[in-house]
Amino acid sequence: MDRTALAPRVRVEVLVDADDRRAALHDATFWGLRDTPKQVPAIWLYDERGSRLFDEITRLPEYYLTRREREILVARAPEIASVTQADTLVELGSGTSEKTRLLLDALAAEGTLGRFAPLDVSEEVLVQSAYAIAEEYPSIAVHGVVGDFERHLPSIPDGGRRLVAFLGSTIGNLPPDARGRFLRSVATSIGPDDALLLGLDLVKDPARIEAAYNDAAGVSERFQRNALAHLDRELGSGFTRARFDYLARWDALNEWVELGFRSAGAQVVQVPELGVEVSFADVERLRVEVSTKFRRERFEEELRAAGLALERWWTDAGGDFALCLAVRASV
Ligand SMILES: C[S@@+](CC[C@H](N)C(=O)[O-])C[C@H]1O[C@@H](n2cnc3c(N)ncnc32)[C@H](O)[C@@H]1O
Repeated sequence: MDRTALAPRVRVEVLVDADDRRAALHDATFWGLRDTPKQVPAIWLYDERGSRLFDEITRLPEYYLTRREREILVARAPEIASVTQADTLVELGSGTSEKTRLLLDALAAEGTLGRFAPLDVSEEVLVQSAYAIAEEYPSIAVHGVVGDFERHLPSIPDGGRRLVAFLGSTIGNLPPDARGRFLRSVATSIGPDDALLLGLDLVKDPARIEAAYNDAAGVSERFQRNALAHLDRELGSGFTRARFDYLARWDALNEWVELGFRSAGAQVVQVPELGVEVSFADVERLRVEVSTKFRRERFEEELRAAGLALERWWTDAGGDFALCLAVRASV
């Protein structure tokens, strides 16, 4: 790929420089390790290796989420383009923007597409996919943002009529408080002609949900363990030398899958960069992320509480996954 030739149409804005990112992450890790259960921020999952492992997960036979979401996009992208008439597609947590091509194609066919604005915390992946999309779509501008969707929504590229997509059920990784803050921040950051498109994994048989995160090839476990390796590299900690068993279990009360580890025996892990040592009891949990599963009524209520209104709700044929289109609620 000739990046120089594409450069006039590609702009990458960096909202989190390395120092800013490090300070926020260290702070969140410091406090997370004091929480009950102990936890570390899910952002540790996404270094370059983590992003590659996540891509592998999306192709696993047990991981139905990506295939179901794709099925809905194939069926509904033209309708989404026609309803929204968006000229700018903003994508939060864009990763490789694999499924996003379906939306870009539909908006291009609708004749409205002028700009693509992916936002991701992982700079390498963002830059790569920004240039790849600029090459595939020669008539659009690409404005990538290296940023945090929990902090930088007010700075997403503005102007025009925007469709803000947040796919892959990534919103399910935010626990309820953080999800409420995120949705409120969307409501204040979008205009009356903009729309929000969310991918949501739905509540279903717990055995199928747990199987999606306990794949036979062990990729999901490697993905979670990579977060510990990333922590060790940046904080000089000893998580990978300690003994932890992988944990991916359905929590029926919260309707989420908890992903992380259980301590195999009582042990102490040093975290020199944070100046702490962390004691784990036998089988004590260390949470890395949760993956919430949704129900339509309850989610509609969450949207309403955040000042958003549900416009459309589409599911795949089996009812496993939903795409939901929301707009700012009128006052
Ligand atoms: C579950 S993956 C989903 C990727 C893709 N959207 C999909 O549907 O397959 C989550 C993506 O969000 C990014 N991410 C995670 N936390 C983030 C944050 N706080 N701010 C911005 N991006 C984040 C990761 O780097 C990763 O690309």
